[in-house]
Amino acid sequence: MTPEEIEADGVRLRQFRPGDAADLAAGCGDPVNLRFNPGMPQPYTEADARWWIAEGAPAAWATGGAAYAIADGATDRLVGGAGIGPVVAARRQADLGYWVAPWARRRGVATAATRALAASALRHGFDRLELLIHAENPASLRVALAAGFRHEGVRRAAGQLRGGGRTDLLAWARLADDPPGPAPRLLPDLPDGRLTDGVVTLRRLGPDDVEVMHRLHTRPEVVANQAPPVPPAWAAIERRCRTAESGWLTGTLARLLILDAVTGEPAGSCGLNVTDQDAGEGSVGYALLPGQRGRGLATRAVRLLAGWAFGPAGIARLTAGTVPENTASHRVLERVGFRREGLLRGRLPGLAGSRLDDLVFGLLPDELR
Ligand SMILES: CC(C)(COP(=O)(O)OP(=O)(O)OC[C@H]1O[C@@H](n2cnc3c(N)ncnc32)[C@H](O)[C@@H]1OP(=O)(O)O)[C@@H](O)C(=O)NCCC(=O)NCCS
Repeated sequence: MTPEEIEADGVRLRQFRPGDAADLAAGCGDPVNLRFNPGMPQPYTEADARWWIAEGAPAAWATGGAAYAIADGATDRLVGGAGIGPVVAARRQADLGYWVAPWARRRGVATAATRALAASALRHGFDRLELLIHAENPASLRVALAAGFRHEGVRRAAGQLRGGGRTDLLAWARLADDPPGPAPRLLPDLPDGRLTDGVVTLRRLGPDDVEVMHRLHTRPEVVANQAPPVPPAWAAIERRCRTAESGWLTGTLARLLILDAVTGEPAGSCGLNVTDQDAGEGSVGYALLPGQRGRGLATRAVRLLAGWAFGPAGIARLTAGTVPENTASHRVLERVGFRREGLLRGRLPGLAGSRLDDLVFGLLPDELR
């Protein structure tokens, strides 16, 4: 690529300059940045910044990529960085990356810079741009969506962890003929972040919900109704909570906490799994804490979730799989309008190599009560 300056939505993509060193060191040295860019030195000193300006960035340009400073469009002060590379020239493909200094976040800087950089790279002849993003980095996932990148899947162990080890990364790509963005979202954010009927409120599960989710999902009667019936480890619940937003943003899984709408106390959890995106089919699951049962809260939660699934999420058919003996759960589904559709014999894994039957219920939009 050629290093021409690019003006875009309040930011300027330009070359790094020696005078950027202090801001570069402060921005790159931010803990969130260092967490999601494990290749950067830690601590990130002004000497590292000077090396990047004098040698690192020019080397990226020399290999056919790009290493832009993102500057404030009005003051020209450094607010971040955005680059293209490594380049796979034979495939006209490259990775894209970005970071924004903490003092300039949540103002659309990354979105503006990434859109402009992607457009420039595609003009320069790249056919495919890739973004590899940690599943616990929703801000970056939102930048990807805003810049027209589409979720493709998981690159297993594609990321290195600081201090050793590897981690999965989510793969996103934008092709030369993809629209500039924002990319369509299968699971849109909830209006004002919540769904409520005045008695229960549903909101997206988050990193602070680990304790209540662990308490709920290790209850023997909750474990007995999942397949296989094995209590989840604390680490698995923690991951579930920390990646809830990414499940939403990749359009695969919406996990929600059920709250008492009056007291705000957690009452349980529920979720919508997009089981067949092409066919528009999703599947719901739910569980309540023992003290919250018997008041119709699960029915209300599933009704709210189904209304959102058929409405903003555009789902055309919902299913719910249940343990055949779980009468309370069947009643919840029937009260919402689900019908029994069939017994799928041995569909699910049980304990010690056994298989479990799955009694499946289905709901179409005009049946929702
Ligand atoms: C990711 C990062 C570059 C985003 O920069 P930014 O300039 O704040 O991003 P924007 O202002 O353009 O916001 C983009 C979207 O993310 C959302 N967002 C920003 N910070 C967020 C956060 N901490 N949690 C959830 N969403 C967040 C914004 O609301 C916006 O959402 P919208 O498109 O739905 O309106 C910045 O957080 C950062 O530098 N992180 C550390 C480095 C990093 O992760 N780089 C990417 C590695 S793949």
